[in-house]
Amino acid sequence: MIIKGTAYVKGEYENCYIGIEEKNIDFVKKSLKTTEEVKKFDGVILPAGTDLHVHFRDPGMTKKEDFHTGSMSAACGGITTVMDMPNTDPPTNTYGRLKEKIKIGENKSVIDFGLYGLLSEEIEDMKELTDFFKVYMAPSTSAERLEEAELMGLLQKAGSLGAKVAFHCEDENFFEEDSFEDLSEFNKSRPLESELNCIDKLDDLPCEEKYICHLTTRESLERVDDLGYIGEATPHHLFLSTDAFLGPYGKVNPPLRSHMKQYELWEDFERGRLDIVASDHAPHLEKEKEEIKQAPSGVPGVETMYPLLLNEVARGRVSISNVIDMVALNPAKRLGLKKGKIEEGYRSDLIQIEFRDNEPIDSDKLHYKCGWTPFEGFQGIFPKKVLSKGEVIVEDKQFVGEKGEGEYLKKNNI
Ligand code: NCD
Ligand code: ZN
Ligand code: ZN
Ligand code: ZN
Repeated sequence: MIIKGTAYVKGEYENCYIGIEEKNIDFVKKSLKTTEEVKKFDGVILPAGTDLHVHFRDPGMTKKEDFHTGSMSAACGGITTVMDMPNTDPPTNTYGRLKEKIKIGENKSVIDFGLYGLLSEEIEDMKELTDFFKVYMAPSTSAERLEEAELMGLLQKAGSLGAKVAFHCEDENFFEEDSFEDLSEFNKSRPLESELNCIDKLDDLPCEEKYICHLTTRESLERVDDLGYIGEATPHHLFLSTDAFLGPYGKVNPPLRSHMKQYELWEDFERGRLDIVASDHAPHLEKEKEEIKQAPSGVPGVETMYPLLLNEVARGRVSISNVIDMVALNPAKRLGLKKGKIEEGYRSDLIQIEFRDNEPIDSDKLHYKCGWTPFEGFQGIFPKKVLSKGEVIVEDKQFVGEKGEGEYLKKNNI
């Protein structure tokens, strides 16, 4: 296939021809003489995104989401690779369970996927199937915290095996749990000190690559950056604050912070101080989220992440290069994937958008099983077309791909 259009190539927009051969980009040329059919794409062509932090709830919680609906949502939001978290039921903490989940993904996923194992005694066996592991430093939804001594032992092992560890960073000792009656009190019950303190504790932990999930403020980003860890921020901490009128629906770990903190996060985004934006797509049913005390923490976000950010580019708030680095290039690099650039030899995972084509986000149009979004009414720019491995899987904003097209990103083979 040959595409002609305006593409984001090597840091600028270029009118070019993109040749696609199987899964990869074969060439990017300014001019071309060919007898082959050339497909003209309007608008701009950008690399598709990679989301390193999703909870597709499969197996065990498939009323909230499953690998089919989750991956379809990702695709319609311009994401063509995801990394799924291990706090499913049962948790992905053994070789067998990892195998089981790979099978689920292979049967249901519409895009390529990788899996995190939950750090456990079986790390050595699991390491045959994945390099990526998750540790909860504090309890979160469907996730328990390991005991200190056990944790140290396991991280030692993880380090010696060269595992790449992602941390949920909050320190329980700083929680004022159960003392909340509304969202604003909940937000205060897991204060920033708990996040900062936990980041400081990581220094002593023996493992090679430290990836810190869902950082909420400039202070946390700075510490993580100074220490040489990889820092992730989420769209909900970028687009929502304690001022959001979300009630229990805005309950998430770590919690939303003040408008001031949110503003600072954007400044750091513009400066490129952040490494990665990932959705922490954590869907729960509406009926589960009605009451603040009972409500499980987490908000959905995989389908709206890239569209929300592209709208900020259109508004002139951030540059396209920052957005592409954080949702496409940096996350793909972490996986060792040749993805996130429109260049020869890279994967032909592309999206086509129009910068004037913003629209209000409408949960009825999203593909989540949970049926709601905390970004209802926010402006987003959704891709008209999405190509995954050279195949069109979204056309005129409609999903046209197939269940089971997604492959597991095998170790050393991606
Ligand atoms: C996540 C979930 O629901 O799985 N919830 C959340 O509030 N972020 C778990 C997590 O990532 O901590
Ligand atoms: Zn978490
Ligand atoms: Zn950094
Ligand atoms: Zn999460």
